[in-house]
Amino acid sequence: MINVAVLGYGTVGSGVVEVIEKNKEEINKKSGESLNIKYILDLRDFPGDPYESKVVHDVEVIMNDPEVNVICETMGGIHPAYEFSKRALLLGKSVCTSNKELVANYGPELLRLARENKCNYLFEASVGGGIPIIRPINYSLTAEKIDGITGILNGTTNYILSKMALEGADFEDVLEEAQEKGYAERNPEADVEGYDACRKIAILSSLMTGKNVKYEDIYTEGITKITATDFIYAKALGRSIKLLAMSRECEDGSFYAMVAPFMIPMSHPLYSVTGVFNAVFVHGNMLGDSMYYGKGAGKLPTASAVVSDVVDCARHIGKTIMCFWDDEDVRQTKVDNIKHRFFVRTKADLEKAAIDIFGMMRVVVADVEGEYAFITEEMSEKEFEDKAEKLGCVLNRIRLEA
Ligand code: HSE
Repeated sequence: MINVAVLGYGTVGSGVVEVIEKNKEEINKKSGESLNIKYILDLRDFPGDPYESKVVHDVEVIMNDPEVNVICETMGGIHPAYEFSKRALLLGKSVCTSNKELVANYGPELLRLARENKCNYLFEASVGGGIPIIRPINYSLTAEKIDGITGILNGTTNYILSKMALEGADFEDVLEEAQEKGYAERNPEADVEGYDACRKIAILSSLMTGKNVKYEDIYTEGITKITATDFIYAKALGRSIKLLAMSRECEDGSFYAMVAPFMIPMSHPLYSVTGVFNAVFVHGNMLGDSMYYGKGAGKLPTASAVVSDVVDCARHIGKTIMCFWDDEDVRQTKVDNIKHRFFVRTKADLEKAAIDIFGMMRVVVADVEGEYAFITEEMSEKEFEDKAEKLGCVLNRIRLEA
């Protein structure tokens, strides 16, 4: 029997209990063991809950019980999740988590502790919710040199951008509606500023490179400056605007990761990923492109991913599943050197100046008064910033992907 303790009986934690209960037969068969929820750690009591008797308030009860083999850390936040995870791993208890913040900050250390104590630190649910993406990168694409990952990794912003595209509405209005419907948090900063996607691409980039990609070094831009007018132009171009999180290993061996809104064409596989859905597009040097799509958030999809990790732990008791994510930090190319094409909006009376400064460009014609819009040739961020400064007025600029 595998005794499981769930830390945090919130949305994901209660989902973990529900998944284990509902799919008991399937899960036990696939684990080769029967899973037993032995404890649930939470500060609150849950009178009337079928698992009421499992609730404990003191983590020591769990740590001191040698029968507990697997811990599901579904608390979120860094503290005390970090201390609890570390403690559990030192005791040889495997930890399965949905906590992207903790994984992005302490992944290499917690993985090392798992190795040293012959247990596992697994985090399938930390990126893309229920979408299997960590496991494919870690175990399935092992014959590949992965050189590019492009993801829509945040459901809230994808929902907002999809609505803006569909309804021609402005960011603030859609955000308000999304908050009312519960699709966006009351404090939406982490989502709309791109911080959530940044943590997730840091994790995927670390697995892609096998080294540590620090999320603090990733250039991150959110969607708060995207307007209804931008979508008029996007439509005229047959493109959509998506918040992409990407990491690239360039031909010269340099590496970069970034999070920013991009205009992508209809032919791009991520174009039709709309609403709260997430998708991750992976490029390997032998396989070429592969894509992973599904629900990137929500109680049961996320819990399903946590439980899939519990099953993996049950199958590997006393053994650590290999995961290549070293302590060594990856040196990222400075954002100044990264090259893209840019869609640019300026005032109509700056047309001549824009042509003089940017040279070769493609004019974008749309039903917008008083503006001149164009697409630049491929250029570095630094070159673009210099030219934009010379022009003196850029109403908005959005990078192009493909
Ligand atoms: N806030 C996240 C999102 C939840 O909107 O995708 C999952 O990490």
